[in-house]
Amino acid sequence: MDLFVCFWCTYLHYTPVFAHMCLSAHLCVTPASELKVKHSLMPVVSLLPFCQRGDTPLHLAASNGHLDAVQLLLQSFDTRDEVNMDGETALYQAADNGQEECVLALLEAGCDPDILTMAKCSALHPVSERGDTSIVQIVLEYKAFTDFQNQHLAAPLHLAVKNSHIPVIHSLLDAGCNINVTDKRSRTAMHLAAELARIEVVEMLLKAGLDLTLRDRQGKTALGTAARADEVIIVDMIIKAERYYAWKTANPELNESVHSEYPLTFKLDHRFGTRQLRSMAWRLAYKLLKPGDWKRLAEHWGFTKDQVSAIEEQWTGQHSYQEHGNRMLLIWLHGEELAQKSPAKELYQGLILTGNTKAAGSVDSVNFSFPCKIIILSNI
Ligand SMILES: *[C@@H]1O[C@H](CO)[C@@H](O)[C@H](O)[C@H]1NC(C)=O
Ligand SMILES: *[C@@H]1O[C@H](CO)[C@@H](O)[C@H](O)[C@H]1NC(C)=O
Ligand SMILES: *[C@@H]1O[C@H](CO)[C@@H](O)[C@H](O)[C@H]1NC(C)=O
Repeated sequence: MDLFVCFWCTYLHYTPVFAHMCLSAHLCVTPASELKVKHSLMPVVSLLPFCQRGDTPLHLAASNGHLDAVQLLLQSFDTRDEVNMDGETALYQAADNGQEECVLALLEAGCDPDILTMAKCSALHPVSERGDTSIVQIVLEYKAFTDFQNQHLAAPLHLAVKNSHIPVIHSLLDAGCNINVTDKRSRTAMHLAAELARIEVVEMLLKAGLDLTLRDRQGKTALGTAARADEVIIVDMIIKAERYYAWKTANPELNESVHSEYPLTFKLDHRFGTRQLRSMAWRLAYKLLKPGDWKRLAEHWGFTKDQVSAIEEQWTGQHSYQEHGNRMLLIWLHGEELAQKSPAKELYQGLILTGNTKAAGSVDSVNFSFPCKIIILSNI
């Protein structure tokens, strides 16, 4: 399909002047030989469906990427934000079809990116879903509203997360989209990411800071969703984030984020420098703690009931409690490091208080300092 179609639509539905203009535009972009072939082969009747959708010449030129024609139409006519029968503007169609140059031309000419289709999609919806980062960025530069929700109440962020389009998610978050927006099933983007278990996406959302208390239609938080899906890495990441944000809220005087020389992360820790701490946690969990001990420790360190049950949901056999304890200790260590505490004393006291004198004795002899140089970073 090209402007040839446009000509016929114009011919049938618009003024002859417009048709003439449109045909000229067509001639600008299509070699004469090609035009002739198409002209003789394409029966008029096959064009009717396009016309019936109510597309204007601008729609047809834009959706097919005929930049010259788009510019000519924009210059010569007052045509901008007309919608077809599906409520789509030319800009929407250009975006939907990945016609980047046309999107830019239309926005420069003042077309409105915030006109919703009948399905309540803005221009950002199809490009976020498809992962077309450059068009997303262009549309955002023209101050498109980020949070329109389509007929299923999905925002562009939901669509980008569902399809794990990381650069698009990044652009939307940078543009200040509402990260807590919920879809028809009351799911936030975090619920979707947790279910899909995309670690990078989960990390991005957690770092951006979002409301983790929101529950979906089934009453599940993102944590509950991850636990139910048996995604233990995601479960642990979410608990780390919950504890980190709770700590920040409880310590408002720390108005700048304080981190180690490694940037804030909620992922599994594989750093060489923390190897010793991690092996200590492993030894405690697998060799020294009895069933139930880890839960008493968790309670002592302020883990919530939901966090404990989310950890516990994992089943690895009769000795599941060992892995649960190991995970809990690693989550706890993450918080200790971010808070720049010395975990040795805390751990010793915790073990004594929960009646693990023997384990406490073995902790005492371990070098427990975090290996990282502490620096202050803002804006993380
Ligand atoms: C989302 O929720 C978090 C945590 O409650 C809050 O800090 C943030 O401001 C919320 N964002 C929006 C856009 O409402
Ligand atoms: C952080 O808070 C302290 C007081 O608690 C204040 O003196 C300082 O200016 C604040 N820094 C910033 C960057 O807001
Ligand atoms: C403890 O470990 C740190 C870094 O791993 C090291 O610099 C320090 O010397 C160690 N202290 C002792 C008493 O072994």
